[in-house]
Order: sequence, then C-alpha cells, then structure tokens
Amino acid sequence: MTSEWRTYSSADFTPQQAYQFLTRMVSPRPIALVSTLSKQGAPNLAPFSFYMAGGANPPSICISVARPRSAADKDTLANIKSTGEFCISVVTRQITEQANLTSVELPHSASEWEYSGLTPRDALIVKPPLVAESPLGVECRLFQVVTHGSGVSSANYVIGEVVCFHIHQSIEHEGEINQSLVDYVGRLEGNTYVSTLGARFSYERP
Ligand SMILES: Cc1cc2nc3c(=O)[nH]c(=O)nc-3n(C[C@H](O)[C@H](O)[C@H](O)COP(=O)(O)O)c2cc1C
Repeated sequence: MTSEWRTYSSADFTPQQAYQFLTRMVSPRPIALVSTLSKQGAPNLAPFSFYMAGGANPPSICISVARPRSAADKDTLANIKSTGEFCISVVTRQITEQANLTSVELPHSASEWEYSGLTPRDALIVKPPLVAESPLGVECRLFQVVTHGSGVSSANYVIGEVVCFHIHQSIEHEGEINQSLVDYVGRLEGNTYVSTLGARFSYERP
C-alpha cells in the first residue's frame, strides 16, 4: 500500500533542505527592518523575516539571526549583543525594494541607510533610530539571545522586550492601527513577496 504522505526524518535533510521546507511552510513571513548601532555608534540596518511577536505582558518580539558562512556574527547580532538595544520598523509594500537593498553586505565603514535611501528617525528611549518611511515600529531592549546549534544556518533567537510603540497618524484611528490602510508585505520563498493589497512581485538580491 502506498501512502499519500512523504515523510522525512530531519536527519535526512541537509540544512538547505530544512531551510527550504521551513520557509515554505512558515509563509508568508512578515519582514522586520532591524536597526542597531555598534558599540562605537556606527548605524546598521538589515531585513529579517524569521520574525514574530510572542507575548504581550510584557510585550515581546523575536527575530532569528542565522549564522552566516563566516565565523563572525552578522552585524545586527553583534550590535544587539554589545548594546542591548534595537528597533524594528515594519516593511510595507512602499519600502520593500529599499528593505531588500539593506540586505547587502557592505564594508563596516559603509551604511545600509545611505545605500538604501531610507531615512533614520530618532527613537524615544533607545539609541538606534527607526525607519521614517515605515508607518509602524517598536523600540526594544534585549531580553535574551537563545543560540540553537553552531554551524551555518544555525539559529540565534533574539528576544526583545518592547519599550515603545510608534504609529504614524496616517494609519491611526482612535489610538488603534487601521489595518486596511497598511499595505503589509509577506515573504514567500526566496526573493518572492506578497502584498496584502496588491499582487505578487520579486526583487533580485543586490
Ligand atoms: C527579505 C529578507 C529577509 C531576510 N531574513 C533574514 C532572517 O530572518 N535571518 C537572517 O539571518 N538573515 C535574513 N536575511 C539576510 C540578512 O538580511 C543579511 O544577511 C544581511 O546582510 C544581514 O545584515 P547585517 O550583517 O548587517 O546584520 C534576509 C534578507 C532579506 C532580503
């Protein structure tokens, strides 16, 4: 008798196959534009779609920074570990192309802000700025980094406690977010996205 199901033990999957399965199962994923500063104050901005809110008392939010091929942490993770602060700005359809540009690997002296054309806007409590072009954002203090695994594509779950919420007045109604005014974007597989108000579209990575 043949089964209608194909099952794979995780031991049978390479990290690449596991990534492909998980990102096609947990889909579409919202995208966090994460802004940080280095210990020396150098600004950094990068997109993360391993991203979720996990609780509200106190409010918390989580991204996962995967281990890259090089031994060093990605700048976002290194900065959060050394300063304990970060901001998340929501990626909407209007800024998806620029958000994609911020995933570029630049030398330490160069800034993804300038490269993408996105504008920093001062936060209220933490030092890293928010993205002015995004209508929704939060300021976070690091609660914990949970590292799972050690090789390429292993996870570093960065859990932040939200200390301040930002809503642009253009999408706010009586103190609440009017979701019908926000063109949220979700990431599907690879470079493909879906917009909640529009059709599917793609951007090549820089
Ligand atoms: C839309 C999008 C989503 C991404 N999501 C993640 C993610 O969840 N985790 C991750 O480690 N890298 C993710 N990346 C890749 C990082 O953005 C990329 O490695 C970036 O260069 C990291 O920047 P940093 O070294 O300045 O921290 C994503 C890239 C794009 C374009």
